[in-house]
Amino acid sequence: MAYAKKKSPPLASGLGNAIIPLMRKLRIGVLGSGKGSNFRAIRDAIAAGQIEAEVAVVVSDVAGAGILRLAAEAGIPHATVSDPRYQTRLSPEGEAEVLSILKLAGVELVILAGYMRMVKAPLLEAFPRRIINIHPSLLPKFPGLEAWRQALAAGEKIAGCTVHYVDAGMDTGTIIAQAEVPVLHGDTAETLHARIQVEEHRIYPEVAARFARRELP
Ligand code: GRF
Repeated sequence: MAYAKKKSPPLASGLGNAIIPLMRKLRIGVLGSGKGSNFRAIRDAIAAGQIEAEVAVVVSDVAGAGILRLAAEAGIPHATVSDPRYQTRLSPEGEAEVLSILKLAGVELVILAGYMRMVKAPLLEAFPRRIINIHPSLLPKFPGLEAWRQALAAGEKIAGCTVHYVDAGMDTGTIIAQAEVPVLHGDTAETLHARIQVEEHRIYPEVAARFARRELP
């Protein structure tokens, strides 16, 4: 009979196929515009074995940005996709270029680390719930630029930072993690931001590790 001649696939190979995707290192793409201290924190946590991941590529919209120097230092592929026509987003062609760089690098999770442009439809559609951002306030309070300065001006007693999924709005995506930072008497915008960044460098790698363990939806 026909079915008797067919060999079933060996059990081990069937199990192997199921296990490999769980054990494979998560491939991360990082987008940033600035000095890249959050990228460095994630890079160092990976090197220390705290995140089962590898940074496959770093892309900046600012030629010569510190984040690109950090990537070069670590031997990580990096690229610049800038667009002088716009300040707060890329052109559709620019975004398509970023998307193709991320896809070519096999990126599964996109980490925005001080990326100063809004992410638009093609990227959002290509990475549903797989683009995350860190913002220097306790969202939903103080979205937008220099959030630590906004918190200080508003007389807040507690500031902080938030890791969230990126959606089409400005700092509006679902919150994944937050850390509080007390505002101290005599704080300036600079001292407060510096303390917020200490917490950023703690929670962002922790969230990346949760993605690498495939814990987050
Ligand atoms: C951080 O404060 C982050 O919250 C905000 O941009 C800043 C980036 O800093 N999104 P760095 O380039 O990671 O040092």
